[in-house]
Amino acid sequence: MFKERCLEGRTAIVTGGGTGLGLSMALKFADLGANLVIASRSLEHVESAAERVRERGAKAIAVACDVRKFEEVEAMMDRAEEDLGSVDILVNNAAGNFLCPTEDLTPNAFATVIGIVLQGSFHCTLAAGRKMIASGKGGTMLNILTSYAWTGSGFVVPSAAAKAGVLAMTRSLAVEWAKYKIRVNGIAPGPFPTEGAWAALLPTPEMAEAAKNKIPLKRFGEHEELANLAVYLVSDYSGYITGDTVTIDGGEWLAGAGEFNQLAMADPAAVKPLIAAMRSGQKKGG
Ligand code: HXC
Repeated sequence: MFKERCLEGRTAIVTGGGTGLGLSMALKFADLGANLVIASRSLEHVESAAERVRERGAKAIAVACDVRKFEEVEAMMDRAEEDLGSVDILVNNAAGNFLCPTEDLTPNAFATVIGIVLQGSFHCTLAAGRKMIASGKGGTMLNILTSYAWTGSGFVVPSAAAKAGVLAMTRSLAVEWAKYKIRVNGIAPGPFPTEGAWAALLPTPEMAEAAKNKIPLKRFGEHEELANLAVYLVSDYSGYITGDTVTIDGGEWLAGAGEFNQLAMADPAAVKPLIAAMRSGQKKGG
């Protein structure tokens, strides 16, 4: 769907790129010509991921980086520039999350998730943004969000608050940094099977099945689908899009929002007679 080598000569930094959706995006970018910086707290994960990128013919460096620590993030951006020549694309994908009744959270649990998601995304955005501004070439930033950034969600209050903050940052910087040729967009994925998120959020087959049944398209997303959207948003194909967040969730969040959407999830053979009976029973006139 993309021109071969459409990311040629660009360096992409993917946080949380050692596993899951981050790795899928990194591999897709590599296939299209980008050089990669794969960052994660676990050196083991990033080294094997960087090796997989190199097998596809791209340059890659593995960096153990805790996005909560600005000095580690700055060092990573310096290495990207020194070893790969520039910082052109940033994907803020690293996240931390768990289900917990809010009354049982500790202040440190809240601070930990905010630290990874909101402060971590800011740290990377600041350090990469300074490089993009200094180079005069600009660049693209992509923030991985979720639809509960705008709906909110019980049991994940630290994550919802942090993602809402990243959404505000996405929109704010799209305006402020447009003059530096920096575009900032977001993706709000619904459930895409990954080891990390699944273990933290949908640990039993029953929970996974219930999550699938809430989705109008009745399936989870495929990594390839998300990776293609990410390429579109970080590449020149989306050159006039900034400050937006594209939802890719099979209709999940809208289905939860509409007053009568539960009818769309039921068997039409049961729903149609019900609605027909309502119509024949409705009063005529005023
Ligand atoms: C309540 C918890 C907890 C839990 C940790 N804490 N897990 N509280 N329920 N399940 C508390 C601890 O008690 C501690 O507080 C504080 O949080 C820090 O915990 P640590 O284990 O010391 O932190 P750390 O080792 O830094 O680990 C961070 C983490 C971990 C967030 C807790 O899960 C992590 O690293 N996750 C990364 C991978 C991940 O979560 N991926 C899912 C992202 S999916 P006290 O007060 O006791 O010291 C996502 C998308 C959602 O976000 C959209 C889905 C559709």
